[in-house]
Amino acid sequence: MSISSTLISWYLPKKRNLPWRNTRNPYYIWVSEVVLQQTRVAQGIDYYYRFIEHFPNINSLANAHPDEVMKVWQGLGYYSRARNLQAGAKVVQEKFRGQLPANFELLLSIKGVGPYTAAAIASFAFDLPFAVVDGNVSRVLARLFGIFEPVNSSRGAKMISQKAEDIFNPQQSALHNQAIMELGALQCVPRNPDCTSCPFHLVCFAWQHQQVDNLPQKKPKGKVRPRYHNYMVVKKDGGVFLTKRAGKDIWHGLYEFPLIETESPMDDQTIQNTQQWNEWFGNACKIESLSDEFIHQLSHQSIRARFFMLTVDSKAFKLDSSVFLCPIANLRSYPVHKLIEKYLNNEFK
Ligand code: ADE
Repeated sequence: MSISSTLISWYLPKKRNLPWRNTRNPYYIWVSEVVLQQTRVAQGIDYYYRFIEHFPNINSLANAHPDEVMKVWQGLGYYSRARNLQAGAKVVQEKFRGQLPANFELLLSIKGVGPYTAAAIASFAFDLPFAVVDGNVSRVLARLFGIFEPVNSSRGAKMISQKAEDIFNPQQSALHNQAIMELGALQCVPRNPDCTSCPFHLVCFAWQHQQVDNLPQKKPKGKVRPRYHNYMVVKKDGGVFLTKRAGKDIWHGLYEFPLIETESPMDDQTIQNTQQWNEWFGNACKIESLSDEFIHQLSHQSIRARFFMLTVDSKAFKLDSSVFLCPIANLRSYPVHKLIEKYLNNEFK
């Protein structure tokens, strides 16, 4: 039996019943794949339903206010996924009359759609013959064929793609792709896989050579950059000042309190020596209280946030023009990132 037939025979009785597997709607499939890029299936299901209920088709997503898209995505993290999904929907609306094209190259031309997502939409929605390669598939192939080149190096990724194509079954594109991803998700798991029950244990290089724990190889990620976010919580007239993050940095498009970012941790004394503090507040504000540290760990940065609750002594403070006074009752209607959400849950219950 070919590898693909073995995969499919294993998959059919074992597969999980996941909502995006019961549709051929290319837009739903696109949404599911973007949600699942950095999210576990269990958490992804709720967001998938939430997203397609709010934005049932490409045009409704393309025409939505960006704040609304962020609000629906709130809590899922990696917000560039939501921004790119909306930017992509606008491209589809303009270039393809609101319909995702049944063509791999055209799918790739859409903002935010890379080779993985294009192959997933092409195969799951249109049964086109393109092999998907994601983290699960890379692990299966590295073990099955004994590929020791790091899967996150360009050489390693090429070797994995080649193997993915070698074993691909163009007559059963969708099934084959779902099956190999499911094998990675359920059987060939990262740690302590139960290899004796795997349909490939007799031919798997890693199992036969006691290399399961050594594969796949990954080259180490770069250094983690520490960042210190000092948020200024300034209340006035039943409101609190907010601003929308801009620029190319993480979380742009999300709302937060005016921020003084520093290279080292600050306390209620040292923060007052910063240039930003002096520009904004001079002597017009007093620190009422200082929160504990909230930590947000990302793959390449570790963000430590503290919230400085200020009382305003006079009108003499001068925040940036992008800052606005948000009535406390409206706070929850703005999309915010995890650090702000946690703080609001503690302080603005
Ligand atoms: N992870 C990414 N895409 C997936 C899919 N279509 N089904 C299950 N898990 C996935």
